[in-house]
Parts: sequence; C-alpha cells; structure tokens
Amino acid sequence: MTFSTSVNGEKRDLDLSGHEAAVDVIREQLGLTGTKLVCAGGVCGACTIQIDGVPAAGCLTPATAMVDAEVTTVEGIADGDELHPVQKAFLAHDGLQCGYCTPGFIVDGAAFYDGWRAEHGDSAPRPEPDRHTIAGALAGHLCRCAAYEGIYRAMAAACRGDFDDGPVEPARIDGPAKVTGQAVYTADVYPDGVLHAVIGRSPIAAADVGPLPSGNDRPEWIIDLLPEDRRVRYAGQAMFAVAAESLADARRIAAAVPVEVRPRPFVIDPDEALADGAPPVYEDRAARKLAPNSSEGPMLPTRWSNNRAGPEPHAVPGHVGQIPRSQGTGGGVGRSRRVAAGN
Ligand code: FES
Ligand code: FES
Repeated sequence: MTFSTSVNGEKRDLDLSGHEAAVDVIREQLGLTGTKLVCAGGVCGACTIQIDGVPAAGCLTPATAMVDAEVTTVEGIADGDELHPVQKAFLAHDGLQCGYCTPGFIVDGAAFYDGWRAEHGDSAPRPEPDRHTIAGALAGHLCRCAAYEGIYRAMAAACRGDFDDGPVEPARIDGPAKVTGQAVYTADVYPDGVLHAVIGRSPIAAADVGPLPSGNDRPEWIIDLLPEDRRVRYAGQAMFAVAAESLADARRIAAAVPVEVRPRPFVIDPDEALADGAPPVYEDRAARKLAPNSSEGPMLPTRWSNNRAGPEPHAVPGHVGQIPRSQGTGGGVGRSRRVAAGN
C-alpha cells in the first residue's frame, strides 16, 4: 500500500507491506543512502533518523512509524547550504575518520544540540556539556575509527555556540561530504543486477547441522559455509549464505531456509569449561589440528610456532642482514634468517 510522509521537508510516497524497517525504506526506496545500516540490531547508531524531532534507530523502527510524520535524515540536517552547527563542529574538530558512523552521530547530536539550546538559551555565554553528559547523550553510537576525542570536542563546542555563525575550515578534505551524508560508500551503490547477500548463522554455540535443502526447497542462490564435519562451534558461526535481488528478499529467504540444527552439549562459562567432564570443543589436540577452518577470515599466510614467537620474520625494507626471530624465550630462540634488501 502507498502511504505518505514528509522526509527532509519534502512530501514522499512510501510503498509499504508493513514488514520493512525504516532504514531499508529510506535507503532503498527513497535513495537517501546517508543513513547507514551497520549492525541491524540497535547497537551502533549508524542508522539514526529523527521522527518528529525524536532520534530513532532506523533498523529497529518499523517503516510504518514514518507514515504522516516529519522524518529527518542526515541529508536534511543542514539548512540548505548552511551547515548545522554540529556539522561544522565535527568538521573543525575532526570528529570523524572513515565517516561511516558520522551520519548517526550528526542526526543524534543535532537533536541533543537543540535540546541543550532550548534548556540553556540562545545568548552567550552558555555552558557546554561535560564529557559525561555528551557520552550519555550519544551512548547509542559506536565509532570503529575511535574518533571519540574529536566527537567530544565537537559536541562541546557546538553546544557552547562556537559554530552558530560563519564558515568553517574542515580539518579534512572529505569531511563536508561525510557530515552531510553525501559521501558514497560501496554499500550505497546499487548497480543494475546487483544481488544482496545475507548469512544464516548458528543460534547456539555447539550443534550438528543437517544438509542444506535440495530440490524445490533449495533457494536459487545459496552456498554452504560449513566445514565438512557440519559442526558449529560458536554462536553466530556462519552456516550458509543466500542472495536475492533485494535485501528484504534475502533476509526473508535466509529466515525460511529449512536447515536442521541439532544442539550438542556446551558450556560458555570459563570455570565450567575447566571442570571434569565438560563438553570439549574438539575431542583432542589432533582433532583440533585437523579441524577444517571455521573462521570467516582468511588464514594468515605465514607459519606460527606458538603464540610467543610470533610470525615468521619478514623482510624489512632497506635492511640487509639477519633479523632475530625472537628476542624472548619463545620457540624461535636463536634462529635467524637472512633477508634481502628492500627496494
Ligand atoms: S544499524 Fe541500526 S543501530 Fe546499528
Ligand atoms: S569515523 Fe569511522 S566508524 Fe566512526
């Protein structure tokens, strides 16, 4: 069904089935990719939007909450060409690096700024929030680049009124695109024919998993991600991946894959794991060594003797001679190897 809403001051129509999350509709239907989808679980804050001025996690908010509401995304925080004081402050104090978390911080930070200003008035001098207050206000946001120092400084300066007027000198050249949601990342590009993938993960820490469906029950695009023994050894371990032409379809298909998960005994408490009779993750050391790789990342392209010796020594550019394998008492004591000069 079609509903109407106002997004960044413009009337927009929404085609909703009732099952969509707000962030998906904003990104995929409205094309406003400044709002990011990261954790999809209400943890990181990257998807934050304002609905009638109140910040909300777009990944947890049903799209129907936007019907007949005033929705603001990061693209609507500036007043035309005039950046919001919080956007200017992030630019001046370099409250960002990759910028992927930045839209969420800006949208929530702008709401906090408005509340601070309403509470403390428009005339200088006005107080600035302390770090504890800023941390509390933005507690729902994670920055993986750890730009927190700049974010603290930016929020304090904006609330103080340092950026109410005038231009700003960005600390980094790509800053303006990142604080306004204009920066384009790989996940923001939807070329024709692109498929969206969703990974089906184990809900429990130990289980034997049956085969993937075959015949008519088998989705068109599905791949098996389990090792040969078809055993999962941690909650969240990838079991399979499906692909579809939309993220919503991929999620729906992944949720419907009829895969049998037979739980095995497990413990997750360290003391219980050390107790006699605790269920092992691997039967013995040999089984551990022979186990197929269940890691989601590539294996390190180097041999390890043990966790004290570290990886094999590597060539150091500009160095000719011998590099000690280890300065400590690890397994590589005394061994060395000749390395060639770098370029
Ligand atoms: S994507 Fe919504 S909170 Fe992380
Ligand atoms: S700037 Fe990279 S995650 Fe925050």
